[in-house]
Amino acid sequence: MVYTVLEMTQNVQEKTQQKKLYIKTWGCQMNVYDSSRMADILRPLGYAQVDVPEDADMMILNTCHIREKATDKVFSEIGRLKEHKKAKEAKGGQMLMAVAGCVAQAEGDFILQRAPVIDMVFGPQTYHELPEMVLKANGNERVVNTEFPTISKFDNFPEQQNQGAAAFLSIQEGCDKFCTFCVVPYTRGAEYSRPVDKIVEEARQLVDQGAKEITLLGQNVNAYHGENTDGKVWGLGRLIEAVAEVKGVEQIRYTTSHPRDVDDELIAAHRDVEKLAPFLHLPVQSGSDKILKAMNRKHTSDRYREIIADMRKARSDIVFSSDFIVGFPGETDQDHEDTIQLIRDVVFASAYSFKYSARPGTPAANMSNLVRPDVASARLAELQDLITEQYFDFNKSSVGKTMRVLFERTGKKEGQLQGRTPFYQAINVPANERLLGEFVDVKVTSATANALVGEVVTI
Ligand code: 5AD
Ligand code: SF4
Repeated sequence: MVYTVLEMTQNVQEKTQQKKLYIKTWGCQMNVYDSSRMADILRPLGYAQVDVPEDADMMILNTCHIREKATDKVFSEIGRLKEHKKAKEAKGGQMLMAVAGCVAQAEGDFILQRAPVIDMVFGPQTYHELPEMVLKANGNERVVNTEFPTISKFDNFPEQQNQGAAAFLSIQEGCDKFCTFCVVPYTRGAEYSRPVDKIVEEARQLVDQGAKEITLLGQNVNAYHGENTDGKVWGLGRLIEAVAEVKGVEQIRYTTSHPRDVDDELIAAHRDVEKLAPFLHLPVQSGSDKILKAMNRKHTSDRYREIIADMRKARSDIVFSSDFIVGFPGETDQDHEDTIQLIRDVVFASAYSFKYSARPGTPAANMSNLVRPDVASARLAELQDLITEQYFDFNKSSVGKTMRVLFERTGKKEGQLQGRTPFYQAINVPANERLLGEFVDVKVTSATANALVGEVVTI
């Protein structure tokens, strides 16, 4: 029998009590978002999310495949977590164990073969089919689902549940860029953009639930080309303008973007849309044109510099963050020096940096001319020292300034709230808990390399 999600949800709901759902999430914000959507879709089936794996009725490992030893890490985590399943079964209970995300997509059936405790393996494009999969697994059928279905999972998700004041909204998924080091085009599939009206509607819902900041999410977020109701295709710049018009949206961010898809409209949005935060995460990976070419990035280091300059012209206070890979096959000392020079030229407010690791099935995995691991480690250390220096300098330059901070959560220390500045700096502030979820003017009083401390400005 073919069920629609809704019918099944109702069917199952009638039969179930409150059950515990434990989700462990690795990787990018896309995965964090996916985990919350899985919780949304399982909620009508009676599952409530819990923070600990003990005694859970369902456990989902939402995995990431992007860097080294991803599969090994998942198997060792399964080894650890299966004890909870055994303990529950010893008491006569049942626990479904699932592997989701990009490792699930890449390894599929192999996970079931190697880990008999696993009941379900499903890839990122199938989450809307979860109710059906759970039904099968409860009927003692082991499930593998790594399809790329033709219908959009987005259209089959229930309304989002409260994400708090800083909410994520997925607008685009997948990647057609095929950088030679990257598994994403294989695990997440082709680029897909959601229609404009669906996104604006979801932004309204998020505001109704208390959101004040919305981060537009996509693997290649600025490759966005969604259809509007007038049949025209919109890019990210126009979409940002539309989201900014939603009443109650006070700040907008977007991530992750690609230099190739930065167009004039997006730069104009940074100039014209005040609600767009002055922070841009724009991965460059390398400052060497030879390496950029081998990575199939399809832009040069000068083009990157040009984008940065154009963005700064459009919004003078904007700051940048990036991703870097060191030790890509064929990378010489000179190539590395080119990357260091690019970092010196641009000056970043934060960055993520990684040692290259060959991902099976990607073109770079077959390249020769590998960089010795000790050389790659030394390059990584040099790059990270420089970046740390840059963002410590940026944090220090913030001291004495007053910034609008959205308090997102309680801080680690008693009586403190934690939030982010418009420039995405983490900040801790002694403040009353009633300010949680609010934008508040904060004066920065001190800085470390990783975070700021501030005080609420009272008039
Ligand atoms: N090795 C090292 N880093 C990688 N990344 C993606 N694939 C690899 C790989 N094979 C990094 C890139 C990307 C970030 C999300 O992860 O810098 O931007
Ligand atoms: Fe991977 Fe490149 Fe696509 Fe980013 S743009 S997801 S690095 S293939």
